[in-house]
Amino acid sequence: MSSVVIAPSILSADFARLGDEIAQVEAGGADWIHVDVMDGRFVPNLTFGAKVIDTVRRATSLPVDVHLMVVEPERYFDDFVAAGATRLTIHPEVSPHLHRQLTRIRELGCEAGAAINPSTPLSVVSEVIAELDLLLVMSVNPGFGGQQFIPASVDKVRRARAMLDAAGSEAWLQVDGGISRETIADVWDAGATAFVAGNAIFAAADPAAEIEMLRSLCRVVV
Ligand code: DX5
Ligand code: ZN
Repeated sequence: MSSVVIAPSILSADFARLGDEIAQVEAGGADWIHVDVMDGRFVPNLTFGAKVIDTVRRATSLPVDVHLMVVEPERYFDDFVAAGATRLTIHPEVSPHLHRQLTRIRELGCEAGAAINPSTPLSVVSEVIAELDLLLVMSVNPGFGGQQFIPASVDKVRRARAMLDAAGSEAWLQVDGGISRETIADVWDAGATAFVAGNAIFAAADPAAEIEMLRSLCRVVV
């Protein structure tokens, strides 16, 4: 796997052609497929459940990166792992027993991630860094694709990078929301390693070329 992970979010895909859309971004060099699960409670929108995770799993050999924007996420761990999730990322804002839940995800043989909203301080994960395979810094308020990147996220990613490095963590540092040609280089510079992009990739005339463009903007120019 390359050191820059590009994870197209199927939230912006054409669902009538989901298999084709996934095949297209996989052929175009995508590293993971990002699946946004929303429950209409934690976030004001509804999306997918285990059936779609299973569909995505069958459509690709890439890791299936599942972002749970739901209350009581533990209700879904078994089903989503059985459906083929590679990683489950949960929100501390609705996971008071974060250590228990991250541990449980790993017990199921799945990677575990924590995602924090723009208003949530990084300190909410400071005691569970050893339990994290991924830390996701949200760069929009979750719920919808195609929103504007929040500029303060760049400094938050920089502080997240410092926190992970200080703890000796090799967790992925992911950023999600408003990632595009205009924003990706700044968060890459700040230390992010994995980039979710929905609208930028699936609304592009050539999604494969867009993936390559986003990746190229992360390379250090010497
Ligand atoms: C937002 C979701 C994102 C979303 C990103 O709540 O978690 O994964 O699909 O979409 P864009 O890249 O369009 O901002
Ligand atoms: Zn997401």
